Amino acid sequence: MTTGPSLDLLDPAAFDGGQPHDAFAWLRDNDPIHWHEEPNGPGFWVVTLYKDVKLVGRDATTFSSARGIMIPDVAGALGDSQGAPQMMISMDAPDHKHYRRLAVPDFIPKAVKEMAPRVRVLAAQIIDGVIEEGECDLVTDIAGLMPSYVIAEMLGIPRADGVALYDLTERIHSTPDPEHPEAGMTAVLEMLQYAHRVWEERRAEPRDDLSTKLAHATVDGEPLSEVDFGMYFLLLIDAGGDTTRNLVATGMLALLEHPDQLGVVRGDLDGRLNTAIEELLRWVSPVVYMRRTARRPTVLGEAEIAVGDKVVMYYGSANRDPRAFTDPDVFDVTRWPNEHVAFGGGGPHFCLGAHLGRSEIQAMLGQILTRLEGLRIAQQPEWLRSNFISGVRHLPVEFKPGSRVAS
Ligand code: HEM
Repeated sequence: MTTGPSLDLLDPAAFDGGQPHDAFAWLRDNDPIHWHEEPNGPGFWVVTLYKDVKLVGRDATTFSSARGIMIPDVAGALGDSQGAPQMMISMDAPDHKHYRRLAVPDFIPKAVKEMAPRVRVLAAQIIDGVIEEGECDLVTDIAGLMPSYVIAEMLGIPRADGVALYDLTERIHSTPDPEHPEAGMTAVLEMLQYAHRVWEERRAEPRDDLSTKLAHATVDGEPLSEVDFGMYFLLLIDAGGDTTRNLVATGMLALLEHPDQLGVVRGDLDGRLNTAIEELLRWVSPVVYMRRTARRPTVLGEAEIAVGDKVVMYYGSANRDPRAFTDPDVFDVTRWPNEHVAFGGGGPHFCLGAHLGRSEIQAMLGQILTRLEGLRIAQQPEWLRSNFISGVRHLPVEFKPGSRVAS
């Protein structure tokens, strides 16, 4: 094997300005199941080929989620399964199935379709909030508000709380930040305290919302405990927040940087937006990776994986694999078919919010592209400091001031 580019996938700096696509390309060609050292851990396998990412994601019998989905083994709330409460994203069958089904009815296409008019109203209100100004931060003033408003309405909590909770998720994903090593766990605890109050309120006084359904749900005939409720609540706020935000904001950045492609979408918004959204998902791949842990010895490519090894799927790499996509480094908003893995490789943990996310993205981009005339980048973007979630965290833009439309 030739020596590859030096690459530290644990260093958030490797993701400043986008995912390290040159290094991923080298790994796919030369070392597709790459062993990566880990300063405070045993190391992990880096899976970069599309076919292997799908294989690992779908084979939940060999590759477990129960030791956590982020690379570091975290004792307690977010990762270690040794008796600690879990989010369903870190569970295996049969528990995972039992927990996932509790929220499925609210995320199936029919439910998302019924909510779509409301999502469009929220998108219009968000643009109303900035349109008279002629300038804003596309991330914090537009893209970030959408997922927090939507999940707040679904859970039946005030919008402002949805925004505040969502800010906490960014703190969770930005860690480990060497300057604030405790920030992630503090944010988790703040969220759980909030969830505790919601659980008490809904147990005492049921309402017509997802929080009430979860507070009164049963698994194996047993009511969901307050802690289980908290973990579920945290997951729902967390999973849809900066993923959707980053797709909208970083997707808009990609469109503004490719004016020809922006012109193609704008030329026939009704006909092309949905196809373009799939290309934005492939291009941006907001979730950098998901981890699994081998629960039996196996062979992946030429790598011999031992029991307990961490196996990490890099979605951004799979989505640029020329073995799966023609000209993968070309941003083509008309690309079809586009079987990207931005929502996962299709296994049991496939994104529960994929339909909802698409609906939010469609509403938000529809508003941005039709109402913000002369939209342009005012200052270079600042990227999120994270090796887990990719995208811009600030994108100052300017546009022609316009009028509000929503009530
Ligand atoms: C652009 C937006 C989004 C992206 C790129 C995204 C991506 C992902 C990915 C990669 C996974 C893991 C899949 C796997 O391990 O196989 C996941 C899981 C999940 N997502 Fe999303 N997601 C997005 C939006 C949302 C939204 C809006 C929600 C709604 C709250 C949501 C809720 C979830 C949940 C609950 C899981 C865990 C599912 C399970 O373990 O069964 N996501 N998502």
